[in-house]
Amino acid sequence: MLHEFFRWLQEDFGATEMAESWSQQFRGSLNLWGITEGTHVLTLMIFAGTIWLIDLRMLGLAFKGTPFSKLNEKVLPFTVFAFAVMIITGVILFLAKPMDYYHNVWFRAKMIFLLIAAANIFWFHRRVQKTEHEWDNSPNPPAMVKLSGAVSLTSWVIIIVFGRFIAYNWYDCGKPLPGFVNWFAECASYPGGIITAADQESDPLIYGAAGPALFSEPVQLAGGASGATSSTADHMTADTQNEGGR
Ligand code: HEM
Repeated sequence: MLHEFFRWLQEDFGATEMAESWSQQFRGSLNLWGITEGTHVLTLMIFAGTIWLIDLRMLGLAFKGTPFSKLNEKVLPFTVFAFAVMIITGVILFLAKPMDYYHNVWFRAKMIFLLIAAANIFWFHRRVQKTEHEWDNSPNPPAMVKLSGAVSLTSWVIIIVFGRFIAYNWYDCGKPLPGFVNWFAECASYPGGIITAADQESDPLIYGAAGPALFSEPVQLAGGASGATSSTADHMTADTQNEGGR
């Protein structure tokens, strides 16, 4: 159901006989995509740079002589501002190719860790921060505080790495992929579909004998299935094909 909604958003919403969908126009715009992604990434520096200060203090690894509340008070406004901008720009970026991101392994994993990070923030405010007066000045906060700091630090690192990996097409649906990836990305409903071991055995030259690494170009497969689909191919520049990244 979500697949169909995102397909419509990507390919049909706003489209007329004369014009592409709004999503496709945004993706093809000269500067809009770049400015939005640039803002997403630049704000990331403020966001990660400030939240990690707080995390390291919670872990008792830095700023041990500064009360947690003082550091939090100074730094948090920057973190909250940057977080809001990241969420807004992230959602706008998503609108450029919602169906492709919906089936992207890294995007899905990033969203899962965003939920984990959000749950940790919620837990910190509801439980951990209630005892702040007990450990505010302590250079070595209690285990519960450290745990929350560790979950925060790790999940933001993972979110950033997965965010960067979205641009790479190593695990795009429509390639020979491990079963778990096909399941996790719901590749069965993506235009490229699933390539099975039997497909690979029947024609290793087309399907790649050893999996995704053999594909250097998107391939059009017999019977309508495609190695990297046209919708995947057309939103990626040549240098992102397999090499990945910009
Ligand atoms: C505050 C949390 C977030 C962090 C730390 C984060 C981090 C990142 C990073 C590091 C990149 C890679 C930029 C690059 O190309 O170098 C990225 C890209 C992206 N992010 Fe986020 N992001 C966050 C929130 C979101 C949200 C909420 C969404 C959407 C719902 C989102 C959607 C995207 C999209 C669509 C891309 C572009 C992927 C591509 O095609 O290259 N992000 N993000």
